[in-house]
Amino acid sequence: MRFETLCLHADENKKDEWGTLTMPICQSATFVHKGVDVPSEYSYSRLSNPTRAHLEHTVAVLEGGAAAFAFSSGMAAITTVMKALPPNSHVIASDDLYGGSLRLFRNVNTFEGMRFDFVDTGDIGKVEALIAEDTRALYIETPSNPLIQVSDLAALSSLAKKHNLLLIVDNTFLTPYFQKPIALGADIVVHSGTKYLGGHNDTLAGFAVCRTAELAERLGYYYKTFGSCLAPFDSFLIERGIKTLPLRMNAINANAQKIASWLRGREEVKKVYFVGFEDHAGYAVTKRQTTGFGGMISFEVKDVQLVNRILANVKVFQYAESLGGVESLVTYPMKQTHADVPKEEREARGINDRFLRISVGVENVDDLIEDLEQAIIS
Ligand SMILES: Cc1ncc(COP(=O)(O)O)c(C=O)c1O
Repeated sequence: MRFETLCLHADENKKDEWGTLTMPICQSATFVHKGVDVPSEYSYSRLSNPTRAHLEHTVAVLEGGAAAFAFSSGMAAITTVMKALPPNSHVIASDDLYGGSLRLFRNVNTFEGMRFDFVDTGDIGKVEALIAEDTRALYIETPSNPLIQVSDLAALSSLAKKHNLLLIVDNTFLTPYFQKPIALGADIVVHSGTKYLGGHNDTLAGFAVCRTAELAERLGYYYKTFGSCLAPFDSFLIERGIKTLPLRMNAINANAQKIASWLRGREEVKKVYFVGFEDHAGYAVTKRQTTGFGGMISFEVKDVQLVNRILANVKVFQYAESLGGVESLVTYPMKQTHADVPKEEREARGINDRFLRISVGVENVDDLIEDLEQAIIS
C-alpha cells in the first residue's frame, strides 16, 4: 500500500467483533485477565491500550520503524528518549532546536550528568570533530526550528554508524509524508504529534519511533516506567488527524511556497527563511532527502514596530504558539517558543525582536496573503 492508503489502513488487525470502521476509544484503565498465567494482549493502559496501540502501529508503519510509542506530548517523547540513553552520555545536537528541547538538554539533562555540544549539524566536519569517547548520539532537527536549517541525514547516518552512535531525528516539521529519516539511516524518530500528525491544533501528543525491535525494547522499558503515555481519546484524535495528513501537507506545501515568495518581495521584510527557496543553503540536500518543503516560514522585518502591527492586526492568521495545524499561526519566537534561550545567544543567531515564524495552514492562500498585507500596512 502507498502512503496515502497507509494513513487509513496501516493497521489491518484493528477489526473487532462489532465490525467498527474506525478504531473505538477504549476507555479502560485496566483489563480483566482470563486466568492465572493465561497470556492476555492488554493488562493495564499505561503499558498498552488498544486505541493507542492502533495509532502506534500506524505511525510505525508510516515512519518505517519496527515500533512506535505514543506519548502525552512531544516533550514527553524527547524526555523519555534522552532518559533511555546510557548514563552520562555525550550528545551532539543541532544548534538550532525547538526551545523546549534546548531547555531539557541544557537545564535538566546536563544537571543529571549528560554532556551536550550544539553545532551546525549541516556541517559534517564540525560534527565529526566533536565526537569523543563518551559520545552516544546525534540529535537532529531538519529543517530546524525556527531558522529552517537543513542537515544531511544520509551523511549523518554514515557518520553515526562509523562511530557507533544513535542518530535521533525530530521529524515534526516535515512528517513522514515528506521525509523518512529511518529510510535515510536514523535510529529513532521523535515527533511533536501535536503538530502536523494531529493537524487540528486540538490535541497534545508525541511519538518516538524505533528502527529496530532491540531499541524498541529498551525504550519500551522506560516508556512503561515513566508513564507519560497518550490517553485513549487523544490517541483517537491523532489517528483521525493522520487520515488526512497527505491532503493537508499538500495544501500547506502549496500555500507556503506562495506566501514565502510574497514575503520575499515585500520591502518591509529583510530576510525570509524558507527551505523551498533555490538559494537556501540546504536546498540541494532538501531536494535529495525530502519530497516537499512543508509549511514553516520564518522572517525578519526591518522595523520592530511592524512586528507589533502584524501581531495586533492579523485576522486570518492567529497569534499563537504552536504549528502544524489547519489554522495558520504566527509566533513571536523571542517571547514564546525560544524565550528561555539566553538573549545574547538568541540574537546572535538572528532570533531578535524583529523575527517572526509562521505556520501555514489550509486556508485559501489569497486570504492569507491579503491578511498579512493588511496587517503590515495598517
Ligand atoms: C520541532 C519540535 N519538537 C518538539 C516539540 C515539543 O512538542 P510538544 O509541544 O508536543 O511537547 C515542538 C513544540 O513546538 C517542536 O516544535
